[in-house]
Amino acid sequence: MSDDVIITRDGHILDIRFNRPDKKNALTLKMYSAMTEALAAAEKDLDVRVVLFHGAGGNYTSGNDVNDFLSKPPIDESAPALQFISAIARATVPIVAAIEGVSVGVGTTMLLHCDYVLVTEDARLQFPFINLALLPEAGSTRLLPRLLGYTRAAELTLLAEEFSGARAVELGIASKTVKSGKIHEEAKTVADKFTAKPPKAVRMAKRMLKGEQARMDAIIAEEARIFGQQLTSPEAREAFSAFIEKRNPDFSALS
Ligand code: COA
Repeated sequence: MSDDVIITRDGHILDIRFNRPDKKNALTLKMYSAMTEALAAAEKDLDVRVVLFHGAGGNYTSGNDVNDFLSKPPIDESAPALQFISAIARATVPIVAAIEGVSVGVGTTMLLHCDYVLVTEDARLQFPFINLALLPEAGSTRLLPRLLGYTRAAELTLLAEEFSGARAVELGIASKTVKSGKIHEEAKTVADKFTAKPPKAVRMAKRMLKGEQARMDAIIAEEARIFGQQLTSPEAREAFSAFIEKRNPDFSALS
């Protein structure tokens, strides 16, 4: 297993910690693969009663490693990022996430598949896809308008600006704000509550709450198809190069 994601068992809790603090815990192919494997195993093991996602070094995650978008783009469903998205979208085991610092891209869209999200008030969340000339993924093009209504979903995804943890709770993207410094402790307390519930009933109830899986799978596949096309577009190349070169992108010459 890569040290960039630390996956451990703590009683009935499967603990998944992003661990690339110098890169704000940006997610690499190896990290996605390790997490997908762990989620698949958890689905088969009723002894895992909850999964807890969090990040090392004061941040949740800055999302997909932008360098990988250029060198190893996720262009078909075998891509580790897409496998991870499929695993989390299909998971019936309850999932808790603890958000502090930055939570960007798939870091934030994955929250729409979690069951309890704790966040610090000043956490910085973002759906940045449009700024990279990409499409919001992980079913978020359907889940966000359903959760927030079209107007607020459009604001968050088309303007693609950061929003705070406090706003995430106001919007219903997160469950509860927690004081800085207490987030890991409080997340563990919530995870412990899930471990005390009857595991089969929890999983069946979650499956029903999430609704028809086939429809969600189809939306995720369609988002991935367009995302894959966009990855090699001139506007996306310009956005990735700008990030790597630490400058603002210039879309003015593109039609
Ligand atoms: N992929 C690769 N490297 C990343 C990264 C990512 N998603 N996010 C951050 N990093 C790297 C930075 O390049 C920098 O590396 P360096 O120290 O070698 O220069 C380091 O992590 C620290 O990031 P920095 O940008 O200096 O931190 P910040 O606090 O000013 O900003 C973010 C944090 C998350 C807002 C900013 O890094 C960012 O926008 N990252 C890209 C997020 C993104 O678009 N993800 C893809 C979503 S589809």
